[in-house]
Amino acid sequence: MSQQPPCSILSAAIILPAIKSVKQQKALNYYGSVQSSITIEASKFLASVTDIVETEAVSTIESFLLATQNDCVGDADQKNACWLTIRATAPSDAFEVPRWHQDGRMFPCDEGREDITRSKYALTMLGPTTLMLHPDTQIFRTFHEGEFKHYWWLQTSNNHEPTEEEEDQAIEALRYWLYEELEEAPQLQVKDGEVVRFSWGRKESPIHSEPDLISDRVFMTVLYGSETELRGMCEWRNAMYGEFDWE
Ligand SMILES: [Fe+2]
Repeated sequence: MSQQPPCSILSAAIILPAIKSVKQQKALNYYGSVQSSITIEASKFLASVTDIVETEAVSTIESFLLATQNDCVGDADQKNACWLTIRATAPSDAFEVPRWHQDGRMFPCDEGREDITRSKYALTMLGPTTLMLHPDTQIFRTFHEGEFKHYWWLQTSNNHEPTEEEEDQAIEALRYWLYEELEEAPQLQVKDGEVVRFSWGRKESPIHSEPDLISDRVFMTVLYGSETELRGMCEWRNAMYGEFDWE
């Protein structure tokens, strides 16, 4: 089976709702079957946390779900469930220094589908887009070199387990080290309304970070799987399948 590349921009852009500001910092999470109530609930959420009215959000959510579910590999049963999340945030300095990372495995894959490239789709509706580096050998080399350097407990010569504090310190030190090392690394340029597809849980999954939150931001991601896979994800994350959770 031919695999989707680790990172791509979908060919058709989505028309964005005219959101100008975030009224409330909140996130919506939904793990469950792909159904029409997602559009209704997501639009309600956007109307509650931003300055737009519900009806203005509907077509964006609908087009995003349709385009991404169509693009996702697999037959109908293999992608009839999803995890959708929408985040509305106010400006902050939390990501002034990027948090370069790869997304790990999101759920236990169904038997026989473990080797298929699985992806997440992202659309920024307001504010800065996710920072994403081109998946290139040199960048991965730097990334792994940084991990090896800072996560000393991964080195075979070491048999001392890090304390929680030591682990936090190493994560922070690696974050700054990568910030400097990858400062000039070429980034994917994403235009308004473009949907980015990026793989998770694989060696070549793109290295990315939240952008510097210099202005209000509204951001939506979705991934698909079978009902069993998404129920497995709920178990891993202690989430409720089929519920719309506002936090
Ligand atoms: Fe991520």
